[in-house]
Amino acid sequence: MTTTRTIVRGGLVITATDELHADVLIEGERIAALAATGSDAARAWTADTVIDAAGHYVIPGGVDAHTHMELPFGGTAASDTFETGTRAAAWGGTTTIVDFAVQPVGGSLREGLDAWHAKADGNCAVDYAFHTIVSDVNDGVLKEMDALVDSGESTSFKLFMAYPGVFYSDDGRILRAMQRGAANGGLTMMHAENGIAIDVLVEQALAAGKTAPRYHGEVRRELLEAEATHRAIKLAQVAGSPLYVVHVSAASALAEITQARDAGLNVFGETCPQYLFLSTDNLAEEGADGFEGAKYVCSTPLRPREHQAALWRGLRTNDLQVVSTDHCPFCYVGQKELGRGDFSKIPNGLPGVENRMDLLHQAVVDGHLTRRRWIEIACTTPARMFGLHPRKGTIAPGADADLVVYDPAAVQTVSAATHHMNVDYSAYEGRRLTGRARTVLSRGTVVLDRGNWLGRAGHGTFLRRDTCQYLV
Ligand code: URP
Ligand code: ZN
Ligand code: ZN
Ligand code: ZN
Repeated sequence: MTTTRTIVRGGLVITATDELHADVLIEGERIAALAATGSDAARAWTADTVIDAAGHYVIPGGVDAHTHMELPFGGTAASDTFETGTRAAAWGGTTTIVDFAVQPVGGSLREGLDAWHAKADGNCAVDYAFHTIVSDVNDGVLKEMDALVDSGESTSFKLFMAYPGVFYSDDGRILRAMQRGAANGGLTMMHAENGIAIDVLVEQALAAGKTAPRYHGEVRRELLEAEATHRAIKLAQVAGSPLYVVHVSAASALAEITQARDAGLNVFGETCPQYLFLSTDNLAEEGADGFEGAKYVCSTPLRPREHQAALWRGLRTNDLQVVSTDHCPFCYVGQKELGRGDFSKIPNGLPGVENRMDLLHQAVVDGHLTRRRWIEIACTTPARMFGLHPRKGTIAPGADADLVVYDPAAVQTVSAATHHMNVDYSAYEGRRLTGRARTVLSRGTVVLDRGNWLGRAGHGTFLRRDTCQYLV
């Protein structure tokens, strides 16, 4: 077997720490070397293929650490399969996803992971890994966590303070899981909303005839996100465990994280493009049928526009470390519609796996982020946070050759008519964005080039992971 050699020539290589005009040599599936463009070293390289990146950025493939392909939820299932969802990810410059395997009620973590492997294995266009959703903390599950961390099959565990009767764990169960994480190195991820209180408000709203989508945002009060975030932090402190708060949307919840970080704790925060670019204005959209806002129902909910500035600041100050999508698409027709006349029955989740890198590049164009910070929050830190670094999330010798030749000047108009996600609407319909992936490589293989799909289902491999590489 000969090893294929590829050179990506003449681009501006951007990592979390550097911007350099460099050529990248790929041997097989990995990056072999970097050398200054035009240098003797770069000129001496020979290759089977040369990819011209002049005038373009060369960035690490995106790492989306929060997706839900085919998630059963609210009596239906997320509409992207692992095949369609990972293909859409690649179109948008994301070459690694970390999805959530769900422990079935009354079952084991193993059963959940087996079910997720059955959905994903052989079907993914790019590499993938699994977190585990722990829906029932018991002695058996705690033992399973040890084994999963040891083997690297899943080194992070999501618990829910929301969704009583579905994924919810009470404080005692959460504490036990966190204690186990403190001992075995597993990272606790938290959906921080007070679901018990929210359910009371849901019932009261419905009884008062408040059934439209916008009430989803009203009952899921900001205070109840902040309260749960505060409680999660204190429980983690008691357990001595690190904590990663997922999908932070409220400024007051972020303030809790900021305070914990100022105290030196290993508390981390993730936000998502929907909280940076959308707001309760979207949730209040009525459209032709009075129900348009259902397209924007997710939890934590979209917040009033004022929260966005706090989230952007948090990303700049590293009080928020990661932007993931929480990609969990449900079609408007037939799925979101399940909640017509009762907002609490609208399946929760937004599509976005294809849009994340470009929305965040737009944030660079708009002056919210530097280019290096864009790469850090979208590629490098998610890889480190979830034990995939340095294989993923950076451009360095030895790393997987997951590279994006990114055209910073390409202009696109986002639309469901042209996106590749298996969902009948876009949360960003009509938005003009500057920047787009031109060529995408996954482990050295070109999967997308100039609008031509060259990838295949089954190219993506399952990634075992280290424990969190981001602890202080
Ligand atoms: O609305 C959301 N976020 N749906 C997916 C499940 C979750 O809580 O992450
Ligand atoms: Zn959640
Ligand atoms: Zn989620
Ligand atoms: Zn171009």
